[in-house]
Amino acid sequence: MVVRGLNLTGFRNYKTLSAKFSPSCNWIIGSNGQGKTNLVEAIHYLCNLESFRTRKTTILLNTGSCATRLVGEVERNSVLHKIDITVNEKGRRVLLDHKVLQRTSEYMLSFASLAFAPEGVSLFRNQPQERRRFFNRTLSLLDSTHLADLQSYKEVLGQKNILLKKQQREAEIKPWNELLARYGVSITKKRQKFVAQVNETLSSVFQELTGREDALELQYEPALRSWDKGEGSVLHEIESSLERERQYGHALVGPHRDDYRMQLGERRDREFFSQGEYRITYLSLKLCINSVLIKKTGNHPVIILDDLFSELDQRVVNHTISTLEKMENQVFITSTTLPQGGAVHGEKIQIIQGRIVE
Ligand SMILES: Nc1ncnc2c1ncn2[C@@H]1O[C@H](COP(=O)(O)OP(=O)(O)OP(=O)(O)O)[C@@H](O)[C@H]1O
Ligand SMILES: [Mg+2]
Repeated sequence: MVVRGLNLTGFRNYKTLSAKFSPSCNWIIGSNGQGKTNLVEAIHYLCNLESFRTRKTTILLNTGSCATRLVGEVERNSVLHKIDITVNEKGRRVLLDHKVLQRTSEYMLSFASLAFAPEGVSLFRNQPQERRRFFNRTLSLLDSTHLADLQSYKEVLGQKNILLKKQQREAEIKPWNELLARYGVSITKKRQKFVAQVNETLSSVFQELTGREDALELQYEPALRSWDKGEGSVLHEIESSLERERQYGHALVGPHRDDYRMQLGERRDREFFSQGEYRITYLSLKLCINSVLIKKTGNHPVIILDDLFSELDQRVVNHTISTLEKMENQVFITSTTLPQGGAVHGEKIQIIQGRIVE
């Protein structure tokens, strides 16, 4: 997938902007506070219908404007699509090739960008729900049935929680537990498989970027201990926590309580990772997700690297650049300066006060 061009009206600090991009590497260069992140945020919004730094869409509107418009030309499988998004205080309207888009999920499976941004670097420091949200979204890009399973699971969980709050009898809750066991096994298996796919290359990507020898592993901590023993065992596991669930008034066992961790050698993330290690392990994870996406879908997501070089040492910076140059994805990198030493490939776009300077 390639974003060929973008027109913005009233987006963040851009009154208007019209830009064309290279299908390979695009360097967005400028001093602090000029609009580099805002530009890649708009590209990410065009690809994913969400920002990587806020869920409040009204913040995207240029101060004083009542709406913002993003119009992009996006190429996918050699076909050029026109995407026209308007966001105002009431909501959002998306036109894909001049037709109103009804379902966000269809769009998500068609267009995608992967962002590496300072906000995401805290993923393994944040609450588990942030990680579940991140991995749910990533897995849904790979498998549309996963999204459907998640939605069904959530609905059933809601029903069960209502019954638990009303202190209903076990017989009333049983059919919901059976459904939770079915969807729970399916969701857990997919998460397990995905994590195994990521781990096939995670260590080697990390070692290539850093020159270090430690093994890097993404660890999946499923809440269902018996997930690999079949639905019967899982149902038994869920049912055996009924008393506790009644006390708390909500369901305590199932993939809505899963977690993910990172381990570098013998050291686990929250207790031991340095600032730079959070960044570089997160970057390695993103690059592995990119490989899994390409292998599974044949599509190359747009890669966005915001403020890539802060807190990374020179060796990691050099290796990251050479890794990016080998990739077939379209890449956007924001930085206050071009990296030192040697020419960089691709297009350079200079931003000053919300404008592109030729
Ligand atoms: N909705 C908005 N309306 C107007 N200006 C905004 C809006 N949101 C953010 N800005 C401003 O846009 C400017 C550029 O922000 P941006 O985050 O893109 O900077 P940057 O070039 O990435 O800087 P840095 O190098 O510090 O990361 C900032 O001054 C910010 O306050
Ligand atoms: Mg920035």
